[in-house]
Amino acid sequence: MTGKTAHDTRRYDLVAPRWGDKMRALGYYDGYLGFLTAAGPRPDPQQSVIDIGAGTAAFSEAWVAVHGPPRNLTLLDPSREMLDRGLAALRAHGVDPIPVQALLGDHAAPPVDVVLAAHVIEHCPDPLVALGQMRDLLRPGGRLYLVVSKPHWCNAIIWLQWRHRTFQQEEIVDLLHKAGFDVEQIHDFPAGPPSRTSRGIVAVSRH
Ligand SMILES: C[S@@+](CC[C@H](N)C(=O)[O-])C[C@H]1O[C@@H](n2cnc3c(N)ncnc32)[C@H](O)[C@@H]1O
Repeated sequence: MTGKTAHDTRRYDLVAPRWGDKMRALGYYDGYLGFLTAAGPRPDPQQSVIDIGAGTAAFSEAWVAVHGPPRNLTLLDPSREMLDRGLAALRAHGVDPIPVQALLGDHAAPPVDVVLAAHVIEHCPDPLVALGQMRDLLRPGGRLYLVVSKPHWCNAIIWLQWRHRTFQQEEIVDLLHKAGFDVEQIHDFPAGPPSRTSRGIVAVSRH
């Protein structure tokens, strides 16, 4: 792990006990539910899913609420404290995910049908490399459900804490194309903090 990533991971360990409640209080869990409900087509329940930068697994919980438990679900995050809370949250829904304590790019596994990635590429050293690593995790035709930060003064405040990146719509669409994806859908969150800080994108792997 490089210096900034190791430093961020220690900080994510520290905020993990309050992260899940914060995601719900600020409307991100509801936002993820709305995004996944709006994103068609409805996937086969027998899908294999990996959540990259899963944190306390709010995005995976929303996936399970909308689509039911997948055939298998992997939570990947470098923060052990985040992973432990994500596992507990999903076990409360009767789902037993596979935890992987690692960075994106350090995990090799058979290709999956779905990659979930909410608010993580903005923390990766190179977003194009990160999107390519996500594509490498997918089978050809597999789908990436991406939630990504966009420029807004709310993100300027969050930046003071996390030094994360934001992406204009054209920029992230261009990066997705370069990484081997076709963009299928762009979702504007309708209300609350998610509407100001983030956008959702569904992209299909061309490879
Ligand atoms: C802003 S949080 C988002 C957590 C969760 N996806 C959510 O929406 O609540 C970012 C998460 O990504 C993880 N992370 C940071 N850099 C990463 C990397 N290079 N690979 C995988 N996960 C990373 C952090 O440990 C943290 O849990």
